[in-house]
Amino acid sequence: MLEGFNTSGSIIAEHIGFALEMNLWLSIVLFLSVVGPMLYLAWKYRADKVKDEDIENVTHHLLLEITWTTIPTIMMFTFFYYGYTSMVTARTMPPANESIIIAVEGKKWSWNHTYPANANGFVHKTAELYAPANKNVILEMTAPLNDVIHSYFVPAFRMKEDVVPGRITKQWFNANEGTYDIECAEYCGTSHAYMLSKINIIPQADYDAWISSQDSKPAAFATGASKGQELFESNGCNGCHSVTDDSILIGPSLMGIAKGKTAQYLKDAIINPNKDIADGFSAMMPATKMSDEDIAEVYSYIATAAVAKGAAIIESNGCMGCHTTDGTPSAGPSFKGMGTLDAGYIKDAILAPNKDIAEGFSPIMPATTMSDDEIAEVTKYLKAL
Ligand code: CUA
Repeated sequence: MLEGFNTSGSIIAEHIGFALEMNLWLSIVLFLSVVGPMLYLAWKYRADKVKDEDIENVTHHLLLEITWTTIPTIMMFTFFYYGYTSMVTARTMPPANESIIIAVEGKKWSWNHTYPANANGFVHKTAELYAPANKNVILEMTAPLNDVIHSYFVPAFRMKEDVVPGRITKQWFNANEGTYDIECAEYCGTSHAYMLSKINIIPQADYDAWISSQDSKPAAFATGASKGQELFESNGCNGCHSVTDDSILIGPSLMGIAKGKTAQYLKDAIINPNKDIADGFSAMMPATKMSDEDIAEVYSYIATAAVAKGAAIIESNGCMGCHTTDGTPSAGPSFKGMGTLDAGYIKDAILAPNKDIAEGFSPIMPATTMSDDEIAEVTKYLKAL
């Protein structure tokens, strides 16, 4: 889970790693120099080996006193030097004109990254952070005023700083190519442990190509997800809501939630959820800034996500060659309306259609091999039609 601690992904990580190692080894030397002689002398002068008349009153030993004062003092100042210089490295932001400045917003319970507008004025917003290798990146971090304190922690970069409502805190890094964990390191409520993301450090050319485009992710990270799904995830909605089944996470499942609601209600639910608290809306639901087009994309994602798997299974098994979804008969009857059929009947119709030929099933319907999970997805899809 925490791959970061044995990776050193940035300049700061190297400084802090060295300071830590120096502390560790010098601490071991100091420990042994005190505890070693103590144990040895306790053993050597144990009660039955010392006669009372041999005990002298030693008042001082100048050389010894100078030694045990000077050496630990030098060691402690070495700690201080490396601790201080690595802190200065971590806390001194590089010049802004030689850096990419990315705005970070931490809210319950997701991270959002906003990039400077590109040459066409387009502003990228992402859940995962993308940045070029060996380039200074400054993070300007904050949380919404009605949120709580979070902490942006990248173990591989030895980089951690609080993200505070109404205040801007900064961190910077200059990292090697790779993918690194972002975690929230300040307990911030129910889903604190899941407030995770990634930093993807990519070649400069890939970064430049992406930032000058309007693509939501660099080419290497494109998933083929719809714009609606990307918005749903990059705004952190998936942290609290399921759309693919009816499980309740922090918030209710959004499966089928659009049914019977006005467009205005749904829009308010995203951009102004507090308006409907009296109607049973949770005060936990944060307001999200989204354009009308983006809201429309998110709806179409929510409306289809739950049955997208079933639709894909039907598609890949060639069912659409003979059936339609809009009510018109083709070689076979339309799927529309079949959702009311008994689940066992649907399963037979897929796996062993010949079983029911006597009841009017056509012998041209071929048997199809499908797992129970796939049949469940198909059934869900049919019901949604
Ligand atoms: Cu955000 Cu813990």
